[in-house]
Amino acid sequence: MKRACVIGWPIEHSRSPAIHGYWLDRYKIDGSYIKRAVAPEEVETFLGTLAAEGFAGCNVTIPHKEAAFRCADERDASAVAVGAANTLWLDEKGRLYAANTDTYGYMTYLTLKAEDWSYRDAPVSILGAGGAARAIVYGFLEAGVPEIRVFNRSASRAEALAKDFGPRVKFLPWEQRSRASTEAAVLVNTTSVGLKGDGALGIDFADFHPDCIVSDIVYVPLETGLIREARRHGLRTVDGLGMLLHQAVPGFEKWFGVRPEVTVELYDRIAADIEAA
Ligand code: ATR
Repeated sequence: MKRACVIGWPIEHSRSPAIHGYWLDRYKIDGSYIKRAVAPEEVETFLGTLAAEGFAGCNVTIPHKEAAFRCADERDASAVAVGAANTLWLDEKGRLYAANTDTYGYMTYLTLKAEDWSYRDAPVSILGAGGAARAIVYGFLEAGVPEIRVFNRSASRAEALAKDFGPRVKFLPWEQRSRASTEAAVLVNTTSVGLKGDGALGIDFADFHPDCIVSDIVYVPLETGLIREARRHGLRTVDGLGMLLHQAVPGFEKWFGVRPEVTVELYDRIAADIEAA
């Protein structure tokens, strides 16, 4: 039986077991996917004993993504760009591979929901400068966007991000987030603002280009204040749940040998869990 898990501290609220459990059932795979609470001081030891514990690999969530990146023998390009990993697997020789699948999850869902998002060759606006922002900036750079504008409440992190990614990425003050986004092809929220209804991003969509796509990586609630406001202005929107589901695909394939499909049934099931919580 193949085994995988998700590690974090805390881990109770992870949706990953429900997602991978759905696929294990659907593809009738003799496997398991469990939650494992791993304290920060134990993460290195745990990753060193993955194989001995019979795991093919694991997902990694807060606060272990940087440690997972450091512990790996090999890292994919997105993990290197972000400096953090959310998906690990072992090869036959026991070498540990680290990937950051947030880039894949975000770009895949954006393109599925709004295939034409890049047709104007316009800049992209990113709110926030944390790990999720880095994964998404990397995705847009790889997709060839001409300019990425990063808006962040505090300067230091965003300046470092812009410097790391080079001249196509510009840091702009938080106060300019509406004014400097009116021509944007896509505006993405990567901050935690709006999570469980807390806070508001204060974006004024009145002068936005009518084809701007507005997306939020927050998925609790499914319809965040940002998404609701964008819809009210007639803009197309992309929710955060799709990214969560798609980022899980590469890990499942590595551990269990089947590339799983993100079905409407899976989306509805996890959406119902979120709404019930
Ligand atoms: P993640 O790894 O999920 O990206 P993170 O690294 O903690 O999470 O980053 C959180 C982001 O949300 C940061 O850009 C943070 O801004 P600062 O760098 O100024 O801290 C942003 N953020 C969190 N709360 C915010 C708020 N109330 N208003 C604006 N930005 C906020």
